[in-house]
Amino acid sequence: MAVTEKLTSLQVMQDASVIPVIVLNDVAHAVPMAKALVAGGIRMLEITLRTSVALDCMRAIAAEVPEAVVGAGTIRSAADAKAALAAGARFGVSPGYTSTVGKACQDIGLPLLPGVATGSEIMQAQEDGYTELKFFPAMQAGGPNLLKAWAGPFADIKFCPTGGVSLENAPTLLALPNVVVVGGSWLTPADVMARGDWATITRLASEAAALPR
Ligand code: 3PG
Repeated sequence: MAVTEKLTSLQVMQDASVIPVIVLNDVAHAVPMAKALVAGGIRMLEITLRTSVALDCMRAIAAEVPEAVVGAGTIRSAADAKAALAAGARFGVSPGYTSTVGKACQDIGLPLLPGVATGSEIMQAQEDGYTELKFFPAMQAGGPNLLKAWAGPFADIKFCPTGGVSLENAPTLLALPNVVVVGGSWLTPADVMARGDWATITRLASEAAALPR
């Protein structure tokens, strides 16, 4: 069923156990990949702004796969946020945080999961009104132990750990009270996408969708 209402960051996080972090190099891959992920039970899709075709891919998915919800990853500037919104993105994800990006997303009404890796960044994001955050790069920066430490002073903050997350280590993260969802690129491996093996993408999505949360 298509999600048509305006979303909050929390709704984006609560939809499934995993938000796939997607790098698309070919516009022709966008629609079949999105359909394959939706078939596996994953519909919040983070398309990273890392390739020249990323915005075209968002437009294609937004137009042709109404069951999916297109999000934009790697938002690093206000211009990125505006371009993503115009291309059909319904949420944004940033690898780090600046107040400029945070306020730009609020101004244009794009729900944002701002990336943080330190207490100071959490405090800045919260000062600007953000309490649902991406923790990036999660496993490299401290993983579950850092999340447990943050649960004391930042008990009201919810996280989406991303970076080094896999089907194997996701359950440990998802079991933490301050983790709502994890992000990761393992659902859309470059070689699987390159050969158009959409059945494998659906299988990887199904496995991820079945993760307990
Ligand atoms: C991201 O952009 O959030 C990360 O590149 C995803 O990290 P992963 O490839 O380790 O899942």
